[in-house]
Amino acid sequence: FIPPAAGGAGGGTTAKDELGNDVSVSKFLENRNAGDRNLVQGLKGDPTYIVVDSKEAIKDYGINAICTHLGCVVPWNIAENKFKCPCHGSQYDETGKVIRGPAPLSLPLAHTNVKDDKIVLTPWTETDFRTGDPAWWA
Ligand code: FES
Repeated sequence: FIPPAAGGAGGGTTAKDELGNDVSVSKFLENRNAGDRNLVQGLKGDPTYIVVDSKEAIKDYGINAICTHLGCVVPWNIAENKFKCPCHGSQYDETGKVIRGPAPLSLPLAHTNVKDDKIVLTPWTETDFRTGDPAWWA
């Protein structure tokens, strides 16, 4: 996990809110609880879930919200602890790993880092920690 005060790597894309403003991590965490997943605009403007690790920190990965079936944005269902696509019923676990089709693949990951109270996203090109396979989206 990454405390909001930690420095970050150079480069990357700053997470934006729905109005296109940079997301402040301290404000983002104010009214949230561990386990929450909330959308920001991430890499290439894609809707991306930021995972709340604790009142003080976000997880070091974000989850792309675009269903790998036909591209609907997949809502987080906190009661069931999974992402459920409203379009054709695909399901993903809390890390975005596909657990029910028709979606063929898990949701892409991005690295998240915190720099100057902003969330910085960088492409995830390494092994997918959920499957142990190469990142199919890289
Ligand atoms: Fe998500 Fe079809 S677009 S299940």
